[in-house]
Amino acid sequence: MPQSLSSPLAQSRSPSPATPTMTRPLTIAIVGATGAVGAELIACLERRAFPVGELRLFASPRSAGKTLTFRGAPVMIQALEETSFAGVDVAFFSAGASLSRHYGPLAVAAGAWVVDNSSAFRMDADTPLVVPEVNGWRLGETPGRLVANPNCVAAIAAVVLAPLHARRLIVRLVGSTYQAASGAGAAAMAELRDATAAALAGETYAPQVMAHPYAFNLFSHDAGIDPETGYNGEELKVMAELRRLLGAADLPASFTCIRVPVLRAHAMALTVRFAEPVSVDDARAWLAEAPGVRLVDDREANHFPMPGEASGRDDVLVGRIRTDLSDPSGRSLSLFIAGDQLLKGAALNAVQIAESLVEAGQV
Ligand code: A2P
Repeated sequence: MPQSLSSPLAQSRSPSPATPTMTRPLTIAIVGATGAVGAELIACLERRAFPVGELRLFASPRSAGKTLTFRGAPVMIQALEETSFAGVDVAFFSAGASLSRHYGPLAVAAGAWVVDNSSAFRMDADTPLVVPEVNGWRLGETPGRLVANPNCVAAIAAVVLAPLHARRLIVRLVGSTYQAASGAGAAAMAELRDATAAALAGETYAPQVMAHPYAFNLFSHDAGIDPETGYNGEELKVMAELRRLLGAADLPASFTCIRVPVLRAHAMALTVRFAEPVSVDDARAWLAEAPGVRLVDDREANHFPMPGEASGRDDVLVGRIRTDLSDPSGRSLSLFIAGDQLLKGAALNAVQIAESLVEAGQV
């Protein structure tokens, strides 16, 4: 029986939070604390009772001196400096790749573990790219103290694809994404709200963050196009990172990444070809018991994953699971996924990485 969001059976099986009593209180830094992901990092640390002793919040000099709230108390935002990481146990970076490239190694040199949300180190052979439910074991193998948090689409897709890949080898992957504003940051979310309000009021709105009008519109992801292949940077990242996460270096994959006027949850349609035939019932059963996944596949009620229902949820929703009729061999399935870009696509996954490090005694 397929589970729906309201099913009592459909409880979260995300990796459990670290037990605070087992760990000394840690000094945690968040670089990019005022951003869309930064806000969710603060909320995840609080909600999951991460053992925070001291929280240091960093943003640009523009935000220095302002405060954000953690556990009901104000925390002053500081401008980031090269000496900011003395005494820090774990530093979460979410302020763009160039800042991570410069300050990440400084934080590691100061003795911190770095969980980096940018693309700076994701393809470095020595830096593990980790979704704890998928390849958390890689954390035990890292030669340094730097861990890369995957691209949001790759993280969300991997949570669903890994339990399938574990049972039947995936041999080809084709996907189309419907990506929310949050992936482009807090300013893009504000632009979606403002542009929509302006459109409803019959006013013109000149795009400031996005390259195209955002209200009641959708467009190709803003990452630059690779002239050789015609794929954009986001599509290439997703394909490369999924190969890495699944441990399938040669997996043929093709993605089309589209920005849609949704605030904070990504959706995607995937067609997956396996080495052997896979039944819909088997795929459902494997996904129903997969950690971090929630089956939302109610054909009678036409109730399937939606960004509106994925928003604010830890689990990635999967449904519309069906045999791909274009492949008569029975080896291909099509499915639809929705996952919160700011949670499993970014902050939640980063905090789960840190929880795994704590649980393993590495921090
Ligand atoms: P600020 O708000 O002060 O500009 P988003 O991805 O949502 O746009 O967020 C980007 C984050 O990166 C924000 O917290 C932003 O801070 C931060 N940031 C930008 N430039 C710097 C910088 N030079 N040093 C530290 N943080 C920065």
